[in-house]
Amino acid sequence: MCGIIGYIGEKDTQQVLTTGLRKLEYRGYDSVGIAVFNGESVQVQKSKGRLEELQQKLDQTPLLGSIGIGHTRWATHGEPSNENSHPHTDANKEFAIVHNGIIENYLEIKRELIEEGYTFQSETDSEVISHLFSFFYNGDMVSTIQRVVKRLDGAYALGVVSEHEPDRLYAVREASPLIIGAGEGEALISSDIPAVLEHTRDIYILEDGEMAILTKEDVTLLETETGIELNRDLFRPDWDMEQAEKNGYDHFMLKEIHEQPTALQKTMAGRFNKDKVSVEFDELQWSDQQVKQWDKITIVACGTAYHAGLIGKHVIEELTRIPVDVEVASEFRYRRPIVNEKTLVIVVSQSGETADTLAALRQSKHLGAHVLAITNVVGSSIAREADEVILTMAGPEIAVASTKAYTTQVLTFYLLGIYLADRKQTISNDYHEQLLQSIAEIPNKIEEILTHSNSIRWYSESIKDANSVFFIGRGLDYPVSLEGSLKLKEISYIHSEAYAAGELKHGTLALIEEGTPIIALITQDEVSEKMLGNIKEVKARGAQVLGVAGEGKMDIWEYVDECCYIPNSLSILTPLLTVIPLQLISYYTSLALGNDVDKPRNLAKSVTVE
Ligand code: F6R
Repeated sequence: MCGIIGYIGEKDTQQVLTTGLRKLEYRGYDSVGIAVFNGESVQVQKSKGRLEELQQKLDQTPLLGSIGIGHTRWATHGEPSNENSHPHTDANKEFAIVHNGIIENYLEIKRELIEEGYTFQSETDSEVISHLFSFFYNGDMVSTIQRVVKRLDGAYALGVVSEHEPDRLYAVREASPLIIGAGEGEALISSDIPAVLEHTRDIYILEDGEMAILTKEDVTLLETETGIELNRDLFRPDWDMEQAEKNGYDHFMLKEIHEQPTALQKTMAGRFNKDKVSVEFDELQWSDQQVKQWDKITIVACGTAYHAGLIGKHVIEELTRIPVDVEVASEFRYRRPIVNEKTLVIVVSQSGETADTLAALRQSKHLGAHVLAITNVVGSSIAREADEVILTMAGPEIAVASTKAYTTQVLTFYLLGIYLADRKQTISNDYHEQLLQSIAEIPNKIEEILTHSNSIRWYSESIKDANSVFFIGRGLDYPVSLEGSLKLKEISYIHSEAYAAGELKHGTLALIEEGTPIIALITQDEVSEKMLGNIKEVKARGAQVLGVAGEGKMDIWEYVDECCYIPNSLSILTPLLTVIPLQLISYYTSLALGNDVDKPRNLAKSVTVE
């Protein structure tokens, strides 16, 4: 969603802001702008579209100064336009603000301000904030901020500069991410860490209800409501910019696909005890009483994380016999879910900031459930608010289409399933050992698939002109089909659907005609015969079938037109392997179509609004 950057220091402020915004591009945006205080007044430059368009304007009229704020906007209130872009100012340009989030009561505030004689330039909810600064300013910025935020309902991360205090940059956080970088002789604010790493590794993570005052010399954190000064430990990320950049790959997505063996290794590191006879989660302090009390598990997530949850359901039910529901967070939060103190709720989120998932987490806690988060981002809202957190160790994921975050989430479900099975003693020692052994082999098997990625590339050429692609599978192959289909549609823009293969004949078979591409996953031994029967059904209607199956499964050539083999593993573990060719197919199809692979249209990386 929107990205915020702010800077105070001796460097070229305009350049720090624009390069910072570039690092936030992965969040998705449709307009961009910066404001710089030049010693006399606040100068603003904005542009609909991409950073390049703003840069052209700045090349003609540079904004000079040593303090400024910048923003990439993802339109919610009002179309993408220069007027609706941030920063917003008050009429006299005494204050400039950038905002990420939503002001729910902005119409009411806007009405009141118009009655007071204020005029508005944009259709945004955010503009009320800059006028409120003008309305409430009393000579002291901290108490002005306190008065402004008292009027705001909703979510906001704010960056504020004022001509009244040209040596101070202000940051305020309520339910939208914001971090502070405390450098030598400079300080920054940003929606995300990669945007400040070039300048400093000394990071403060601002929490809800907190504000920060940044000068060149220091950073002061305050509780917004009381103004009480806070002590906060610095957070020093142990990953570097190179990890957050493309590292020789053409796209972040391809780089992240190739990082999966390492990401999985890191996620499983330290999880097996030394003889590989048990799985350990030191972060889980579950008493036997608690584990006994949970009569069901509810997994809540969105998009790709939801698909990881579907695999989680299958695995946990299979290994522990505990019933598991999986729900889409945007549905869960608006019904009366049956969740209580006897439920373990697991929320899954790469970013840890997805608004619907966060709301589901809060609702579950309110209903008395114990909430475990599986997330990739330390210090994210979901990580902070859950009762317990398991971190996936995927590292920063920049491409909008999730790949390595997904496989690390799926792996976490396997480990958690085994951990719970240990606690409940529901699987045999032999099976347990076999599982751990086979999980440890997965990274090398993915590596093997990746070395043959060119043999998958040709297939993209054959589907790139299709109107529609179908993914089918049974058992665990079905949720992987859902993920393959989502990946394909989000970056290739080709319509695609995933079906539990046995469901086809209940309606969707009507869509299969001569040449329709079908990607059929055939890795689940127990239903393999049934699956071949389903492939026959679509072949009989003229479909072109690509089978994805375990090595050595030669009999499928009788049924499919093409085949992509994956290394063999236990049936229950194949989702970690089958998804890799599907990720590659969507990547190469998007590439063949000339799309912006890392930043697909209409989508954002981190969905912090509903
Ligand atoms: C698709 C994708 C999205 C996210 C979804 C949830 O490739 O990335 O479907 O999975 O928006 O995001 P997180 O995991 O950050 O909560």
